[in-house]
Amino acid sequence: MTTGNKPRRLPRYTSYPTALEFDELDPALYAKWLGDLSEDQPVSLYFHIPFCEKLCWFCGCFTKISNSYEPIRRYLDSLRQEISLIGGIAGRKKVSHIHFGGGSPTIINAESFQDLMALVRENFEILPEAEIAVEIDPRTCSQDKVTAYAASGVNRVSLGIQDFNIEVQQAINRVQPDALIADNLRWFRDAGIGNINFDLIYGMPRQTLDTIEETIVKTGEFAPSRIALFGYAHVPWLKKHQQMMDKHHLPEQAERQAMFDLASRKLEGLGYLAIGLDHFARPGDSLLVARDRGLLRRNFQGYSADKATTMIGFGASAIGSLPGGYVQNSPDVRLYAQALEKGKIPVRRGLKVNKTDLMYREVISTLMCYFAVDPDAIADRHGIKATFSREKADLARLVEAGYMEQDGSLYRISERGQPYLRAIATLFDQYFPQGSDIIDRCVHESEG
Ligand SMILES: C[S@@+](CC[C@H](N)C(=O)[O-])C[C@H]1O[C@@H](n2cnc3c(N)ncnc32)[C@H](O)[C@@H]1O
Ligand code: SF4
Repeated sequence: MTTGNKPRRLPRYTSYPTALEFDELDPALYAKWLGDLSEDQPVSLYFHIPFCEKLCWFCGCFTKISNSYEPIRRYLDSLRQEISLIGGIAGRKKVSHIHFGGGSPTIINAESFQDLMALVRENFEILPEAEIAVEIDPRTCSQDKVTAYAASGVNRVSLGIQDFNIEVQQAINRVQPDALIADNLRWFRDAGIGNINFDLIYGMPRQTLDTIEETIVKTGEFAPSRIALFGYAHVPWLKKHQQMMDKHHLPEQAERQAMFDLASRKLEGLGYLAIGLDHFARPGDSLLVARDRGLLRRNFQGYSADKATTMIGFGASAIGSLPGGYVQNSPDVRLYAQALEKGKIPVRRGLKVNKTDLMYREVISTLMCYFAVDPDAIADRHGIKATFSREKADLARLVEAGYMEQDGSLYRISERGQPYLRAIATLFDQYFPQGSDIIDRCVHESEG
């Protein structure tokens, strides 16, 4: 279904309810939720760095371009104020997972990064086994930054690769020679950071099955331990700069699917195992271990092995997830900084979640992680009497169409139904308009 030239996008369910449902939220409620956190349950921390040196035309992230360090220095001052403020309210919580995302955290210089991590350690107790991950733009990374990451305890990095083909790189305004990637990998491996993820994208302009194959062959040579293979989200009405790319060079839906299938087959041939919607990992990787133990989760970073049920978000636009609900900081860097200058929590929006939301969150997350779900068992665990009558009618239609298989109360997405995972998950989404037929939704709305 489309509205003008804005196709309805299917959620990726990195949260449930999705961020579309967020509304104004009183920062005092967030302070209460922080104060209510249990003493010994570890939390996760997310730091958003909304700056890059150069704009990639495909980019769908919340970022802005800065060619001077001054705005970044000022932003880091605000981030430091927020760490002290929130750390003070929450009490010095144990931390099992830290993630620096963006934008490009690599824009922070080595000294500032170490100072920031030292402040985090003052305000939070980082557990010895904690995973500390940083998203890396290989073009703004350097050996001294990698040394600072290692000294600060970073033990996982995610490199934005996207595509190795030079013509694709030119078409997306992101040229990064193979030699640069080789340098980055050498710095990380020499510094003892061996958990390396590559972000790849399919469905961008100028990509063909041949360029996808070239990218996968080179990925195999660099041998990262984990790969995220994202479908390009084309949202020019939200991200105007995507119009810089010639839309006539965008592959059609069938070609996108063929790209994903080819990339998956080739990655599996290289020994990577598929996880959920878009991840691949070598045996032994913590994401695979979590999946095999039934502990795989969906959160704002996509798939995660993180066991913490609370994520505290820092930085402009950062989202936090607490037992009471979701919170999001002001996306406007100036307003974010002004709130902190006055000693105020910079949260603007969010959503209080109820018991039913938590049950449906588990149903959808289980489906997104395992392609299978037993809704009745989850409802029982949550102590909720749910008949799922509308949902079961849709599930029956999917079984009939061969997209799902039923075994008692367990529903499993068949191989044929796997490309429609996101569309199938919408049938459990109590906020998603359920007007369209579920089969139509699968066939017509599974893009982007
Ligand atoms: C914040 S960026 C990663 C760090 C760094 N900024 C970089 O690009 O190297 C996170 C990832 O989001 C993915 N991404 C960005 N825009 C996207 C889009 N429009 N569709 C799909 N994936 C996208 C890219 O794979 C990118 O590596
Ligand atoms: S893809 Fe990464 S480096 Fe490129 S503009 Fe977006 S956030 Fe910045």
